[in-house]
Amino acid sequence: MSDESTDTWSAIILAAGEGTRMKSSRPKVLHDVAGRTLVAWVVRAALEAGAARCVVVVGHARSEVEEELRVQFGKRVETVLQPQRRGTGDAVRCALDGHDELEGRLAVLYGDCPLIPPSLLAELVERSTKSAADCGLVTATLAEPRGYGRIVRDGAGAVQRIVEDRDCSEAEQAIEEVNPGLYVFEGAFLRESIATLSPDNAQGQLYLTDVVELAAQRGTVVDMRGDMSDLTGVNDQRDLALASAARRRVIAEELARSGVAITDLDTLYVDVSCEIEPGASLGANVHLRGRCTIAAGAHIDTGCVLTNVVVEADAKVLAYTVATDSTIGREAQVGPFTHLRPESVLGPRSKVGNFSETKQTTLGEGSKVNHLSYVGNGEIGRGVNIGAGTIFCNYDGEQKHTTTLEDDVFVGSDTQFVAPVTVKKGAYVASGTTVTRDVPEDALAVSRTKQENKEGYAARLRARLRNKKKS
Ligand code: UD1
Ligand code: CA
Repeated sequence: MSDESTDTWSAIILAAGEGTRMKSSRPKVLHDVAGRTLVAWVVRAALEAGAARCVVVVGHARSEVEEELRVQFGKRVETVLQPQRRGTGDAVRCALDGHDELEGRLAVLYGDCPLIPPSLLAELVERSTKSAADCGLVTATLAEPRGYGRIVRDGAGAVQRIVEDRDCSEAEQAIEEVNPGLYVFEGAFLRESIATLSPDNAQGQLYLTDVVELAAQRGTVVDMRGDMSDLTGVNDQRDLALASAARRRVIAEELARSGVAITDLDTLYVDVSCEIEPGASLGANVHLRGRCTIAAGAHIDTGCVLTNVVVEADAKVLAYTVATDSTIGREAQVGPFTHLRPESVLGPRSKVGNFSETKQTTLGEGSKVNHLSYVGNGEIGRGVNIGAGTIFCNYDGEQKHTTTLEDDVFVGSDTQFVAPVTVKKGAYVASGTTVTRDVPEDALAVSRTKQENKEGYAARLRARLRNKKKS
């Protein structure tokens, strides 16, 4: 890099507000859009656009917001406190006061605009730098501009000032060109101007937007057009739902373009931190949350909800499977209607079928739990067949215990394993058995009362009951 002062720029992100319009106990900027918080989306956009430093202004729920920034960005992001919410101008002042080294070009972004394309910000920085403008900003047109600041232009079409929604005259209310809130300022100009702001407006606040008028008076404002669908600000739950839908759609389209087969772009819910290989296929109404990894050839069918799940190559996850913190091995098959709870690790070609639940269990290669079973705290070898309605009784009211089934064990239907218990290699467990003691290799375990057939008993019983009914 040649000359630092011209090549590098910094970003100030405003995230101190409470967001009362969200009607939520969570701080606004910590609401989720496709698996990432609002503020993290904005910080990432700034970093991706090339910001050398990123200062986030915090205030409401300060420690929660700082913790999120620390977890997501570590030392790459600094924070500064705005003690009282006195408006966006005051928030910028706090950042500047706390950081003398903030100079050169300064981008200012709002922490509630999660869709900003980094390329748009980078372009705004470049244009402002080239034309040495005191202020560069993006504007956009909205058929329903309510809530946004409006762009007032002079007779020659130059930006003159921004008027906030609440301060609009009737004529100004009709202006469809709005301020999405993406600016690049010349640092020294911003410091000077911020110091002159007054709270002489409907909200009694210091408005950052008033700085634009000061820049216009000096005649150095550059503006560029943006698309409002990229620039939505989130003020209430409707905005959040719209922003989530927009972001989800972008993710779905990117996946489809990369070679993932997608049944329905409109009902795919994939968090941004998931990784899906080309050649995987995703059915309608599929939710992939947190950090899921789906390998090529894997198929996730309708209605599945997977959270932090690894699905290896060519595995099939059939309809309405719910799985969390688990691994589904190569060519394995899960579902329909299966529940994999945390730490289920299913080996290659294994199967867990309908109405079965697993938890903290490893299932070896080719092993099967096909129907209606509960398998908790299990260590299951290869080639094991677990019959319908088998229950691992893993909990004694105080502690969890392990059931170990070694390779090639065959378990008949309706069996209970009272853990801790081990069934050695190749043993059989007869249907209906309650296993309370270890079973030796190649043995048969059976624990059930002997069957007795009472000839003609049913017919006699029926006759007696019918007579009773008549009398
Ligand atoms: C702001 C703009 C408006 C623009 C809109 C775009 C001003 C005065 N208005 O209005 O022109 O059309 O965004 O979305 O700038 N914040 C602080 N400290 C404060 C106040 C706010 O850090 O004292 C933060 C908030 O956390 C939020 C951001 O600044 O992330 C914007 O504040 P908000 O109250 O949502 O502004 P808008 O009314 O949307
Ligand atoms: Ca806002």
